[in-house]
Amino acid sequence: MAWYQRLSLRILLPLLGVLLLSSWGSFTYSEKLLERVILEQVQRQAEQFLVGMARQIDHLDTSLDRLQLEQLFHQVLNEKRRQRQFSILKIYLYNHKGEVIAHSEPGEHPPKVLSGKYGDVLRSGNPYHSDTAEQKRHPRSGEWITSVDIIIPLFRGGEIIAALESELDLTATKQTISTIDDEFEAVMVQIVLWSSLLLALVTAAILWLRLIRPVRSLSAVTHQIAQGDLSARVHYQSSDELGVLGAAVNQMASSIELLFEEKERSYLQMVKSLTKALEAKDAYTAGHSGRVAHYSVLLGRRLKLEEKQLMLLRQGALMHDLGKIGIPDRVLNKPEQLTDEEYEQMRAHPVLTATIMRPLRERFREFSDIASWHHERWDGKGYPDGLKGEEVPLLARIVAIADSWDAMTGDRIYRKGMGKHKALSIMCEERDSGQWDPVLILEFIAMIEGALDAEPAAE
Ligand SMILES: [Fe+2]
Repeated sequence: MAWYQRLSLRILLPLLGVLLLSSWGSFTYSEKLLERVILEQVQRQAEQFLVGMARQIDHLDTSLDRLQLEQLFHQVLNEKRRQRQFSILKIYLYNHKGEVIAHSEPGEHPPKVLSGKYGDVLRSGNPYHSDTAEQKRHPRSGEWITSVDIIIPLFRGGEIIAALESELDLTATKQTISTIDDEFEAVMVQIVLWSSLLLALVTAAILWLRLIRPVRSLSAVTHQIAQGDLSARVHYQSSDELGVLGAAVNQMASSIELLFEEKERSYLQMVKSLTKALEAKDAYTAGHSGRVAHYSVLLGRRLKLEEKQLMLLRQGALMHDLGKIGIPDRVLNKPEQLTDEEYEQMRAHPVLTATIMRPLRERFREFSDIASWHHERWDGKGYPDGLKGEEVPLLARIVAIADSWDAMTGDRIYRKGMGKHKALSIMCEERDSGQWDPVLILEFIAMIEGALDAEPAAE
């Protein structure tokens, strides 16, 4: 799977994108909010300044002498221009008709008449603040500056007698805001980066525990089941969707396992039926298979095999010659010496048995191996595959010894079986010939000797 196809990345990347986008939005909004708060604060201070000035004007002569007013403006402006927060560019005083009666720049012609929305101050008595800052050139330096207007009404005896306008230069305030913005920006960028990193790590950990790991476990188990391991189960237990899916996979595996067991049981039953058919066809094989199973299990117990292996050993021994069902009766029951061609037909029976048992091989490999290789030899001179030493499965090596023992001691239609003592002496002679597994043949001989010693009268 390519890295960009990983589920964790497909979840994490959009999440981080949304996080960064929302952080950028909050950041921009915070910047604007900060700027607005500072400007409002400055405008309030400027308004308070104008209110103070209005009180000073109120204390002047009631005729609002122009000269007196302009001296006052001049004095106040000089004082205010020394302050950093905001500076006042110009001050105008309008009469109740909106005509300029005094302004802070003596010698200049009165520049305007208060009208429109500015004139509303004289009619409504409410102060006026510019909503937005205006870019204009400074009247003396000619530099571009940011300015806003504030107009307040002047009352005397409850009547609006004049309006006082002030043009504020907010350039210094803007620069202060810009400096604060830069610092704010640096802090915000760090906060956003670290919180994004932390969130990404926490999200990745949760994704791994709650999603990726269970999905991988599910994937591994379904792969195992697809490969034929029906015992594989999902161990992730949770009440979430993945837990439900895991339980469903386990249920599916159990159902498939039951189906396979049923199928194998049916096939095993069929193989047993075939064995019965062979026993009906060849009386010798019936007794022979039973005795081979008997001796095999005795040797298996002596070797301390597990019960499951003993069961397989018994079943395998009972069916080890099943392939003889495909050999013609005239060859199978021929009392005389077999011709070379007939001998080859007889030698084909392990392959025929293996072919019949192939459907069982997946689940009962050892069971099937017994049939396939019970004529193989430890020294590699056996058939059909010429396997050598431990290449021949253990259970097949056991059955090979038991099969040979019964071939010597069992009765045939054309001859009587040899005595057990004689057969035992032949086995002892063959012990070092390399035909048999050296450990197994010693155990088998010891087992037979023990049995003969215990039942001397049986011979
Ligand atoms: Fe055989």
